[in-house]
Amino acid sequence: MQIDENGFVAVTNADSSRTDEIISVSQHSSNEMLPAVFKVANVFAGVGGNRKLWQDCQVTAVENDFKIAKVYKKLFPQDELIISDGFEFIKQCHNEFDFIWASPPCQKHSRMMKATRHKVADYPDLRLYEVIIFLQNFYKGKWVVENVVPYYEPLIKPTAQIGRHLFWSNFPINAEEVPQPKNFINKANLQGKKEMMDWLGLHFEEVIYYKNNHCPVQILRNCVHPTLGNAVFLNGR
Ligand SMILES: C[S@@+](CC[C@H](N)C(=O)[O-])C[C@H]1O[C@@H](n2cnc3c(N)ncnc32)[C@H](O)[C@@H]1O
Repeated sequence: MQIDENGFVAVTNADSSRTDEIISVSQHSSNEMLPAVFKVANVFAGVGGNRKLWQDCQVTAVENDFKIAKVYKKLFPQDELIISDGFEFIKQCHNEFDFIWASPPCQKHSRMMKATRHKVADYPDLRLYEVIIFLQNFYKGKWVVENVVPYYEPLIKPTAQIGRHLFWSNFPINAEEVPQPKNFINKANLQGKKEMMDWLGLHFEEVIYYKNNHCPVQILRNCVHPTLGNAVFLNGR
């Protein structure tokens, strides 16, 4: 295990779907004198769109892509960051949190699966529903699972649809869509990256290609807009 000057842990199997070891890269500050903090797990954290406006809470973020995690840590240095498998993390660590936000990968559910000219025929990633069923049955805190509107009828009825997002939660959701920039889906160059960063209020220099995607804007399109992320969060806390 290698630790760099920023306190990051390089995990060689960061992209594997199951990671047995949960690796923390930030230090907990334990101080018995402080009042109880509201502990939030931000699982499948991306670069933190949904998290940007959260306040008065202690956030633990989980992300398995090292480059994305590094950007998250720059944007949210105060958060604990764990580079590991989010599915395994929820199973092992759910009881440590008052609130869990989970945004499992959405590509395999997206309507783009059927819209694209490329041959992407593949199974939907049903671990999305594993997370929802797990939280419904084994977790006592507040939780929300976010994903895109899929190309098929959702297997579990969502609590809310807001714009292109579906939310499943154990509290009512009442929030407004934040209108997307024009040509949202086709922004695919560095100018598009700048426009999306301005829209989200999240700025970073790194150009990151998500999985096999050749578009530098994909990791920004993955984001929930901070205003929506905060409104949904406040609905539940
Ligand atoms: C839809 S994005 C999250 C966006 C985030 N909610 C936001 O608003 O910015 C999903 C993220 O989960 C990460 N991811 C995918 N599979 C994962 C896994 N098994 N464990 C942890 N993170 C994973 C991806 O790298 C991606 O950054």
